[in-house]
Amino acid sequence: MSDYWIIEKSTDNILTAYFDTPEKEVNTLGEKAVRELDRLIDKIQSDPKIEGVIFTSKKKDFVVGADIDEINKIKTVEQGVEASKALSEIFLRIENLKVPTVAAIHGQALGGGLELALACTWRVASNDKRTAVGLPEIQLGLIPGAGGTQRLPRLIGLEKSLDMILSGRRVSAKSAEKYGVLDALVPQQQLLKQAQILAKKKRPKEWFYTDLKPSNLAKELFTGAKEKNILGRRVVYRTAKKMVDEKTKGHYPASYKALDAVFEGYDLSLVKGLELESQLFGQLVVTRESKSLIHLFHATTSLKKHKYKAAGKEKFGNHKVETIGIIGAGFMGAGIANVSLEKDKVVRLSDPNKESVSRALKQTRDYFKKQVDRRKIKSFELQKRLAHLSPSLTTSGFSKCELVIEAVFEDLKLKQRILADVEKNCHEDYIFATNTSAIPISKIAAHAKNPERVIGLHFFSPVEKMPLLEVVVTDKTADWVTARSVEFGQEIGKQVIVVKDGPGFYTTRALSFYLNEAANLLADGVPIELIDQALTDFGFPVGPITLIDEVGIDVGMHVLTTMQESFPDRIGTPRGLAPIADSGRMGRKNNKGFYTYSNGKKGSPDEAIYEIIGISKKNDAVSEQEIIDRCLLQFVNESVRCLEESVLTNPYDGDVGAVFGLGFPPFWGGPFKYVDLVTARDVVERMNKLVPKLGKRFKPCDTLIKYAEQNKSFYPEEQ
Ligand code: NAI
Repeated sequence: MSDYWIIEKSTDNILTAYFDTPEKEVNTLGEKAVRELDRLIDKIQSDPKIEGVIFTSKKKDFVVGADIDEINKIKTVEQGVEASKALSEIFLRIENLKVPTVAAIHGQALGGGLELALACTWRVASNDKRTAVGLPEIQLGLIPGAGGTQRLPRLIGLEKSLDMILSGRRVSAKSAEKYGVLDALVPQQQLLKQAQILAKKKRPKEWFYTDLKPSNLAKELFTGAKEKNILGRRVVYRTAKKMVDEKTKGHYPASYKALDAVFEGYDLSLVKGLELESQLFGQLVVTRESKSLIHLFHATTSLKKHKYKAAGKEKFGNHKVETIGIIGAGFMGAGIANVSLEKDKVVRLSDPNKESVSRALKQTRDYFKKQVDRRKIKSFELQKRLAHLSPSLTTSGFSKCELVIEAVFEDLKLKQRILADVEKNCHEDYIFATNTSAIPISKIAAHAKNPERVIGLHFFSPVEKMPLLEVVVTDKTADWVTARSVEFGQEIGKQVIVVKDGPGFYTTRALSFYLNEAANLLADGVPIELIDQALTDFGFPVGPITLIDEVGIDVGMHVLTTMQESFPDRIGTPRGLAPIADSGRMGRKNNKGFYTYSNGKKGSPDEAIYEIIGISKKNDAVSEQEIIDRCLLQFVNESVRCLEESVLTNPYDGDVGAVFGLGFPPFWGGPFKYVDLVTARDVVERMNKLVPKLGKRFKPCDTLIKYAEQNKSFYPEEQ
């Protein structure tokens, strides 16, 4: 009798093992489940009557992977190797069973789930929309550790398996069948029946293209021939390595270990390949990169259970926001419309400027047309989405909108006026959200009739791509308003953090201190390219000066001036930015910024900049570490201050906001995780070192000092 595996034996001696993790929504291959699986195999081996075995699930998914909490507890390379070996050996036992085995997959088969299936003789899946397979370990800084890097390449070839292993993406059942990962797709009702048939069939034990698909025969023969000879494999390796270099910039060791596991393992026996995989897995599981990525996984999971849920449920039950009104059809407004339409919302979009409205319509059409071209959606879905959008020069009909989001120019008076207009003609449960990037929400709500219904929904640009939504609440915002806003954000696929109102909220504030310091470095004569290079070497996707050009020098200047008014002690006049803004340079948008632009393409740094700032001699003697420290520690210190001042309710939000909204390197886990990784003492020492030269803006905040003195960390449970 097992707690995890429910066993049924049919009259024709086929054993079906249903995986059903007790008291959990999903099946994970934790220690106990695996131990019981091992015992189950003992039983199968010792029962000569059994003629075939089916592994399937009682949950809505097959198996979603290993138990991440257990992975997190691994402290040494040896423990990591052992954990991987333990599972690998069990799957090898499954593969070596004398009877045919079948994985019958409905829902997701991820990580260890897919590895279990790969060890089976056959894989059959439901053709349900939700059914998908994948090896997402790379997203946690790991490689598949139970045969994924060995069996998948042997089954479907190097190129296709590398695509899956290096991206970690989920592959739909349909594509997985095309790839050769799955043997058959059937309607869900026929899944077990089909599995029963396969469980009686032996398969010739030969890996790799045993079942070539006639439709792809020529292509597959070519790929097969290439991958079967060593020179061909070298070409595949070089291409993959180049792609990894470009994508990771050397910051993610797991991608390189994945290449090692796949290519070296390919030339070994399966058993030796599995051993190699376990060794590499063990080396990765203790890396900082993996710890940081697992931390982010926990952080984003924790956001889903937000504390406002009950307030929303009490008022609306399960009713979701259906009709959205957007005021301001500029770049942001159109983006917000797109992500809402994507989730079948009805959207009213209003802007008095005809050109804005037609540009927004084009933005929407282009966005969904691209999805049609990429076969993500069908043409009729494009038509349906467009039919859900009602553009207008006025706000007539906005009384039907449960959620109104304004995205007009960044102008307090204008935003207040828009709010007053909405209040005159509104839905009985309306919420007024502003997409301001820096104006305190309480100022916008200062004259509101119902300030409890005013909230900030700070989207990031481009809305369609950026994964973060920062929800900003004032002292007066009602909990049901927050609940509904958070749930809307989650529904449209964003990572949603809730922060307290204040100058720049959390993200704009932390970013301002970071960018301000980059501008200070520039004013000290440090060349543009050195500043950008230092921070991209640290792991930011673009350097801070490039970022200012992208955001707009005028916008940056406007925000920094607002921040300076709020924090005059710590942000002085941005010396490196003000004269540039005054000179009319706006960055990429007017083809005149810190960099040169031609036809929208970024060139080299513009030498004229130094003269405008008044620098006669460049200062390239500043070390890369000092450049990093100056910008990064401003970012980190300000983030911790936001926690100190309760702008952030917990460090998780700060890390998610920085990584998903501001490009903080994921392999550092966010500013709070960064402090834990290098220790608060180290951060304080590095900041104190800069004080004599650069002044009190480098004084560490009280929390950092306390944490350094007491040797504390933000996430003691992750240590
Ligand atoms: P934008 O300049 O592209 O669009 C603003 C739109 O507002 C224009 O189409 C304009 O015609 C319209 N508008 C002006 N007065 C109006 C009125 N009375 N009624 C309706 N529409 C009116 O600006 P963008 O970039 O879309 O920014 C909009 C808001 O989003 C600003 O508050 C900005 O700070 C904020 N934001 C911008 C981000 C960005 O990266 N662009 C990022 C996050 C927030």
